[in-house]
Amino acid sequence: MRTDTPQTIYRKDYTPPGFLVETVELGFDLDPQRTIVASRLTMSRNPDSKVRAIELHGENIVLVALRMNGKTLSKRDYRLDDKMLVIPEAPDEVTLEIETLTAPAKNTTLNGLYVSNGNFFTQCEAEGFRNITYFPDRPDVMAKYTVMLRADKAAYPVLLSNGNLIEEGDLGDGRHYAKWEDPFKKPSYLFALVAARLVCQEETFKLADGRSALLQVWVEEGNLDKTDYAMQSLKNSIRWDEERFGLELDLDRFMIVAVGDFNMGAMENKGLNIFNTKFVLANPRVATDIDYAGIEAVVGHEYFHNWTGNRVTCRDWFQLSLKEGLTVFRDQEFSADMIGTDSGRAVTRIDQVRTLRQAQFPEDAGPMAHPVRPDSFVEINNFYTVTVYEKGAEVVRMYQTLLGRELFRKGMDLYFERHDGQAVTCDDFRAAMADASGRDLTQFERWYSQAGTPVVRAEGRYDADSLTYELTLTQRCPATPGQENKLPFHIPVAVGLLGADGSDLHLNVDGLDAVTAVLELTEATRTFRFSGVKEAPTPSILRDFSAPVVLEYDYTDTELLHLFSHDSDPVNRWEAGQRLAMARLLKLTAAVAKGDTLELDTTFIEALRKILADESLDAAFREQALLLPSESMIADQMDVVNPQAIHQARQFVRRTIGEALQVDLRAQYDANQTPGAYSPDALSAGRRGLKNLALAYLASTSSEEGIALAQAQFDSAGNMTDRVAALGALIHAGAASAQAALQAFYADFDNEALVIDKWFAMQASAPATGLAAVRALMRHAAFNIKNPNRARSLVFTFCVGNPSQFHAPDGSGYAFWAEQVIALDALNPQVASRLARSMDRWRRYAPALQAHMKKALQKVAGVKKLSNDVREVVSKSLAN
Ligand code: TRP
Ligand code: ZN
Repeated sequence: MRTDTPQTIYRKDYTPPGFLVETVELGFDLDPQRTIVASRLTMSRNPDSKVRAIELHGENIVLVALRMNGKTLSKRDYRLDDKMLVIPEAPDEVTLEIETLTAPAKNTTLNGLYVSNGNFFTQCEAEGFRNITYFPDRPDVMAKYTVMLRADKAAYPVLLSNGNLIEEGDLGDGRHYAKWEDPFKKPSYLFALVAARLVCQEETFKLADGRSALLQVWVEEGNLDKTDYAMQSLKNSIRWDEERFGLELDLDRFMIVAVGDFNMGAMENKGLNIFNTKFVLANPRVATDIDYAGIEAVVGHEYFHNWTGNRVTCRDWFQLSLKEGLTVFRDQEFSADMIGTDSGRAVTRIDQVRTLRQAQFPEDAGPMAHPVRPDSFVEINNFYTVTVYEKGAEVVRMYQTLLGRELFRKGMDLYFERHDGQAVTCDDFRAAMADASGRDLTQFERWYSQAGTPVVRAEGRYDADSLTYELTLTQRCPATPGQENKLPFHIPVAVGLLGADGSDLHLNVDGLDAVTAVLELTEATRTFRFSGVKEAPTPSILRDFSAPVVLEYDYTDTELLHLFSHDSDPVNRWEAGQRLAMARLLKLTAAVAKGDTLELDTTFIEALRKILADESLDAAFREQALLLPSESMIADQMDVVNPQAIHQARQFVRRTIGEALQVDLRAQYDANQTPGAYSPDALSAGRRGLKNLALAYLASTSSEEGIALAQAQFDSAGNMTDRVAALGALIHAGAASAQAALQAFYADFDNEALVIDKWFAMQASAPATGLAAVRALMRHAAFNIKNPNRARSLVFTFCVGNPSQFHAPDGSGYAFWAEQVIALDALNPQVASRLARSMDRWRRYAPALQAHMKKALQKVAGVKKLSNDVREVVSKSLAN
């Protein structure tokens, strides 16, 4: 916490470290109030650096002792401030011995060494290690670690760190110790320790080369009935990486530890992944299908980091997407492969497109917009963003689209061959892809350096005489902060042409001969000529969402209905439905604002009816096709956002669909029951998804039938997916029985923190929940703002997931936001800063709302003692 102006760090200022570290020996005497950390570092001068001094980072720790090559240094031998310890004069080979003091129990930031529910955990990415000991805390300093843990045996029976356990025993005085050694060199951000009262599910697992590894999932007592799925996902991840990328687990032991207080999803510490309980604990009683899918994805994600992140790491934090974009791509492919079918794979792709549009496009269009590889930052924790992660994954996916799977794999192989054990850059990854494939990827670099979502405008022209179809693609990219003018991107645009009967026409373009052609747009504009086209086609452009762009094409309703009924590409088939829905939602929003009568055309409703009843389609796909664009996605399409009008328009469409399709929805509700034992597999989850969407539509009409159905499902549900769906339907319908159901739900699950999070979130997102109700919930005994999951479930969900209430015309929602950002910032800047982001795009609202929002932003900005995290976000939001 500083009061001076925060400093901006620039990518162009990168310089290699003056000293490299070979070995690190750490000794921890763990005590919640007073933990002593002893560190012995062997270091040597880096021949590639001009820096003379030894520069060590250190924050919020007390220096107790400092020796260099056996000699205690006096205050004249070093400089010490609240961020750095600098030793200006040092020989080329150095052994440093450092003793520091910390108070983990007082650490509410959940960064560095902290206590959660009486247990010790660490979180070191990105720059948390410096809160534990003085160290060159930058990812290009990689060293071998040995760690000695000492702690009270009764209170902390389990002592874990990275790598292999090489020794353990009693110390006599009620304390015990464990010594761990990590055979691989690693950057400090991958260090971890756990000292806790925990139990584990474990298993020996055979690796591809015949070795076996010990796999463990550690949780608090009472949660061992919720570890199976995480363990299964871990085993699936290990197999998948062996098969798809030829990458093996390189350790004899791999541990996952769940903790209830955690800032993000999970952390890939070498051999000792630490997870938010949300992404570990599941059984049918407490977890939904979405929770199960999240666990599979995050377990995969952290495991895959072992190669993409740990064995090959980042040179500096500007390269974050090198590991995150690539690892998200890998976890996406893993989840898709686990489903196995093409149609199931397509549904995961639709989900990815939704996330991108819902979260990344807005980021790219707001004041925090940044390239996948940023050029500057104030606080690196603010750059763990959807742009770095999800857009970064799209960039990796585009290599695969452009090169094909086989050459992409060759590029991956070359990347590891060249860089195993190194800290490298996004350019190194691109070079491996270019060299392995022989492709020129020079222009592709702009996906890393230019922010903003490119817009591709398409225009088609059919010539019946010459049987040619011309598709002209034109690209542009809006200005973003610090980047006025953009150069053309290298964009893969996958295109198919549909005939009048709905089937794919055979394509002849650019020497390609296929049903879907990947056109490469590299210029500002280019016309592609398809020959031998026997009829005027309907173009299906950007199939499988082949690039993270906005596609403009002036589709007629007739063309969209054609695509919605027939496109062989499921993503574009879904997309056509979304376009049909969006056009209507925007028109209706305008009508609400004007006070006009609202009407929804039967053509659209009939198209939905057809999809809904089409048994040849996966239930999961039909669910996606019937899901309307969210209120915030509608807002993104408007010049001046009116949240209440959007809400009313969307509610009107939901009700109208619910009424018009009542019989069909009921039929699907009945047809997609999943009797018998619960299974989270994609097919069953898809059926539940469609069934529960049908329920939501039926209840949205507040009809007796709909409410009775929801109540019956709530009373008899055999799993959490069905239970929360029913409860949500009751709440959203404003059913008289909703309060009683909420109470019963709470009573059933008051010992299950993750379920109570759902209980808060469902209320916070209900359109009937106003600010007063949120404040009342904050006074509930189970609310605790220090716990990030709980804070997210209530405060974040209200500010982000309940737009019609949050944007109350009197500005009370914004004042609440400011108050909560300030309160959280004093406890946990990382979490506070995420909440601060929710006011990013305040300039898009009606002037009266803007004025209130600006006031709230200024209130936060006016706080003297603000973290760099929140300071950066609010000052960028307020900047012109
Ligand atoms: N590297 C982690 C991941 O993507 C995420 C992460 C970064 C993180 N910083 C963190 C997790 C801070 C918790 C706290 O998987
Ligand atoms: Zn990650």
